[in-house]
Amino acid sequence: MKAIVLTKYGSPDVLELKEVERPTAKDNEVLIKAHAASVNDWDWCLVRGKPFFIRLLCGLLKPKIKIPGVDIAGQVEAVGRDVKKFQPGDEVYGDISECGFGGFAEYVCAHENALALKPASMTFVEAAAIPHAAMLAVQGLRDKGQLQPGQRLLINGAGGGVGTFGVQIAKLIGVEVTGVDSSEKLDMMRAMGFDQTIDYTQEDFTKNGRCYDLILDTKTNRSIFDYARALSRNGIYVTVGGSPARLFQVLFLGPWFSKFSKKKIHMVALKPNKDLDYMNELFEAGKVKPVIDGPYKLREVPEAIRHFGAGNHKGKVVITIEHNNKT
Ligand SMILES: NC(=O)c1ccc[n+]([C@@H]2O[C@H](COP(=O)([O-])OP(=O)(O)OC[C@H]3O[C@@H](n4cnc5c(N)ncnc54)[C@H](OP(=O)(O)O)[C@@H]3O)[C@@H](O)[C@H]2O)c1
Repeated sequence: MKAIVLTKYGSPDVLELKEVERPTAKDNEVLIKAHAASVNDWDWCLVRGKPFFIRLLCGLLKPKIKIPGVDIAGQVEAVGRDVKKFQPGDEVYGDISECGFGGFAEYVCAHENALALKPASMTFVEAAAIPHAAMLAVQGLRDKGQLQPGQRLLINGAGGGVGTFGVQIAKLIGVEVTGVDSSEKLDMMRAMGFDQTIDYTQEDFTKNGRCYDLILDTKTNRSIFDYARALSRNGIYVTVGGSPARLFQVLFLGPWFSKFSKKKIHMVALKPNKDLDYMNELFEAGKVKPVIDGPYKLREVPEAIRHFGAGNHKGKVVITIEHNNKT
């Protein structure tokens, strides 16, 4: 089969489209003929071996994970003998980050628990955009953020995957949503439903005097004291990711801060795929639609990852995987 292979850390140029052996499903695994995948921060970090903790997880000197890609959508080709939920022909999607990656390939194996059935009305491209980013948005807004109707929400780093799902979910709850990102993304963000937008190159939302009941942050590039200043009296700050040093501060100072203040500081530890059924319901009801950047072809993965890493993307960068040598 064809796959995008990573043999050393470096720029996305180190990725090569190669012919490799097709994987076989273990007893509790499903073999999927992949039709689409999407790019995540995991891929950008894995390819570069940065930040350093990635090397502790994925190989100090060279990557143990040979094929990047964690969000996938495709058709079940074969199932291991212990698989109960799926059968050949089923259309599935999911985040396979806990199954060893491998999404940028024609075929991939995943544990059955990493997959959900794809609704017939959802395309493979749409399905591949959902798992990672939508789960972070749902778990950040609903579970950690306890978002309530009538509240004021701000999403920092709002023009990417988490933000474009986040605004749609928040609007269903009935809140006023402000999005912060660079100027080129603000029109798209307004079209997605953001009530207010802030260009972070022009204005610092932690210093403009406005307060929010919930801040959902995908960039975490400030101190928690800055964020606290932009929270209302009982406000909650939730980070899903960002600068490792700042995340470290949230992890260690956040619980103390929450103990001595009415304001709360939380971090999302992603539970992959937990809310895919919820996303299926919203999608089928026409309430949520992924914002697609691309799609790119499998051979264009290096370009797609470069585009993601430069922060030029809007919504989710998606890869389509064609078969019969058309990749
Ligand atoms: N918590 C967990 O368990 C877990 C698991 C996996 C991933 N994650 C993290 O979750 C996050 C995923 O977010 P995502 O997929 O939505 O990312 P994304 O698609 O890269 O979106 C982030 C957006 O932030 C913008 N941005 C860059 N610098 C900014 C700044 N200083 N202020 C405001 N916005 C800025 C970027 O655009 P420009 O560059 O054009 O400005 C981009 O539009 C990542 O941080 C990832 O590491 C967390």
